[in-house]
Amino acid sequence: MKLKKTYSFSLLSSVYLTISLVLIGALIYFLFPEDNKLLRLIIFFPTVFIVVFLIIQYRTEQFIYDRLKKIYDEVSVLNEDELTRVSATTDIDSLSNSVKNYVQGKRIEIKNLTDRDSFRKDFLGNVSHELKTPLFTVQGYILTLIEGAINDKLIRDKYLSRANKGVERLVAIVKDLDMIAKLETEGLKMNYEVFNIIDLIQNVFDLFEMKAKKRNISLQFDKLYDYPIFVKADKERIEQVLINLIVNSIKYGKTNGVTTVGLESYTEDQFILKVIDNGEGIKQEHIPRLFERFYRVDQSRSREQGGSGLGLSIVKHIVEAHNETMLINSVFKEGSEFSFTLKKAK
Ligand SMILES: Nc1ncnc2c1ncn2[C@@H]1O[C@H](COP(=O)(O)OP(=O)(O)OP(=O)(O)O)[C@@H](O)[C@H]1O
Ligand SMILES: [Mg+2]
Repeated sequence: MKLKKTYSFSLLSSVYLTISLVLIGALIYFLFPEDNKLLRLIIFFPTVFIVVFLIIQYRTEQFIYDRLKKIYDEVSVLNEDELTRVSATTDIDSLSNSVKNYVQGKRIEIKNLTDRDSFRKDFLGNVSHELKTPLFTVQGYILTLIEGAINDKLIRDKYLSRANKGVERLVAIVKDLDMIAKLETEGLKMNYEVFNIIDLIQNVFDLFEMKAKKRNISLQFDKLYDYPIFVKADKERIEQVLINLIVNSIKYGKTNGVTTVGLESYTEDQFILKVIDNGEGIKQEHIPRLFERFYRVDQSRSREQGGSGLGLSIVKHIVEAHNETMLINSVFKEGSEFSFTLKKAK
């Protein structure tokens, strides 16, 4: 039968104590003259005290150390190197510290995982929701054609072109998703070059002049830039950022409004580029969520404008991949200002 731990502890301690006491007694008995009893007592008491003290101290330390070591051995997360033999109390401290750190770390890890999981669920839900609408539209037209509409030339052409619009929408969403996935996995694979940002802005203006005209919005610079301004960035991606911001300013700008783009020195080695509109503006409560994928302030209105809420999410990814900053200023019903920083070319 295995002796209970405390019994074996007391037993062994008693053995040590008994042996030492008997030895001390014997030594004193033989070493000191029999007629000097007082001297014997004077030597006996402190010696016994010191020896008993040392044995108890040693045994408890040993006992605690063994227990701790077992915990360290069994709980693989604890680092056994932290276990020192200096003193049992520091060991207990370091044990509770390790456990505390471990728990803290796990807590953060679990929070990240649950956050990511709910994000993943939301994301999947959003993707399928976004794809469903154009997909069902396309399917609807195709079914109607199959059921006979194909024989009427006029209806056939109309439905085919509508189905095609739906497909285009699907392609656009998939392209955006693809872009985000790429930015997230490849992350920092940027293609840096030095280029004239004023030219690039002018290009995007030219590209969307027609679209802006439809709402009678004018696209303009804040002042005359009759000299080139060189920045260092991934030109294609910065173009994408500009397109998203300028298209937004047209979509959410008011008719007869103005979109103004300006460039200023921000820090010693950064410019700040601002895209300002005098459109519908954004309520403060929506601003923190604007960069989330699929987030739209007004679901129904944006849908009529054909947006899926991916644009700003892409913009943010690109700006952050450049290690630059994105800023938003918006006053509801007055207008918005989206800006981001850019490296000056040296
Ligand atoms: N200049 C702006 N003025 C007012 N609201 C804006 C502006 N830009 C963006 N928003 C709001 O932010 C939301 C998110 O914009 P984002 O560009 O991400 O998506 P989207 O334009 O709806 O769709 P997508 O860009 O994917 O076609 C928009 O739905 C709109 O409500
Ligand atoms: Mg957009």
